[in-house]
Amino acid sequence: MPDHNRAPLRLETLDLPDEGTTRALGAGLAGMLTALPATSLGLRIYLHGELGAGKTTLVQGLIAALGYTGRVKSPTYTLVELYTLSRLNLYHFDFYRFRGESEWREAGFSEYFDSDGICLVEWPEKAGNTLPQADLDVTLEIDGDGRRATIAAHTLAGAQCFDSLTRSSSHEKRS
Ligand SMILES: Nc1ncnc2c1ncn2[C@@H]1O[C@H](COP(=O)(O)OP(=O)(O)OP(=O)(O)O)[C@@H](O)[C@H]1O
Ligand SMILES: [Mg+2]
Repeated sequence: MPDHNRAPLRLETLDLPDEGTTRALGAGLAGMLTALPATSLGLRIYLHGELGAGKTTLVQGLIAALGYTGRVKSPTYTLVELYTLSRLNLYHFDFYRFRGESEWREAGFSEYFDSDGICLVEWPEKAGNTLPQADLDVTLEIDGDGRRATIAAHTLAGAQCFDSLTRSSSHEKRS
């Protein structure tokens, strides 16, 4: 679990006025993943936010930008969907249905988090306190008809991603 008591290395809030901008943020994350050196692979991106906040939409934008043309399903029931795209193994998790640490342990997913894959996790908090520290936390909040995203980088790899994301970002920054 991310340690919210520790100050993140980077922090920024963006306005996402419509679904397209949530997808575009996902596409920006995809661009930064493909630019990562192989030594920085094994990245954990945790997506926070209430039901309907846009977490799956962001992942859809990310996976589509990596060239996947199929339908990106929400892994609400399967718990994980794997996508192998270019040189990346992406694991899209949704732990909404977990009821704490024991279910997380029984599911046997920890090896994915120690691999050189990219773990995108919806509802990480449902796994209790067992998940490793996130490299990037993205928190989506409903804001009128749109959304607001807060991106926090906690590790050097996360900060590297964050920097390439915000450099290329055409999103409106909040003052
Ligand atoms: N920036 C935005 N502005 C307005 N609507 C948006 C925005 N981003 C996503 N949406 C819409 O929000 C709805 C819910 O999105 P999504 O399924 O991605 O949420 P979620 O966070 O994955 O929810 P859950 O916790 O149930 O998995 C979709 O209809 C999507 O089009
Ligand atoms: Mg979802």
